[in-house]
Amino acid sequence: FRIAVLISGRGSNLQALIDAQQAGALPVEILLVASNKATAEGLRKAEAAGIPTLALDPAVYPDRASYDHALFSRVAASGPDLIVLAGFMRIIDPAAVAGWHGRMINIHPSLLPKYPGLKTHQRAIAAGDTVHGASVHFVTAELDGGPVIAQVELPILPGDTPDALAERLLRHEHRLLCHCVAQIAAGRITLGDSGVLVEGQPL
Ligand code: GRF
Repeated sequence: FRIAVLISGRGSNLQALIDAQQAGALPVEILLVASNKATAEGLRKAEAAGIPTLALDPAVYPDRASYDHALFSRVAASGPDLIVLAGFMRIIDPAAVAGWHGRMINIHPSLLPKYPGLKTHQRAIAAGDTVHGASVHFVTAELDGGPVIAQVELPILPGDTPDALAERLLRHEHRLLCHCVAQIAAGRITLGDSGVLVEGQPL
């Protein structure tokens, strides 16, 4: 089972996938790591693991549609079964998303459908929530709005700051993402017409 990973920054979720794969716990081949930022730390992590990388700068394309067309053409050419968005901080053109229906997932640091978009930790704390978490979902044209595959929850502690909460959540994100990729690679999780299927049954 072959995956491509799209990132924009640090790449700790990417590193978790690499570590799981190298430990023999995730039977996938990571074909390519692509980023919209050439300086993304995650690209260095990919290089260190011997994974081919691609940095494509949106600034040299006239608009989102042409950038996404170029990016997803290059990603598709590498031949992945699944695209994993792991901290890829861009909205994707619906035309590019459409070609990957049921074959592209994203990890998002909130309990979707709560808090799509940015600053999720800050928003959860400001709302007085006592529980926060992360979600992995299939990607659709709606930002952070596709069918949820699995979530992890953790308590918000008194006095929590967005940074402290984000850091605590990150370890859980890593496990959640590896778990979901493994389940999809094993063919246990798919996207049907009416939503996520686990071994052919609605979630
Ligand atoms: C994670 O919190 C992920 O959920 C969000 O962006 C962050 C990426 O972190 N979409 P990293 O680059 O994987 O370290």
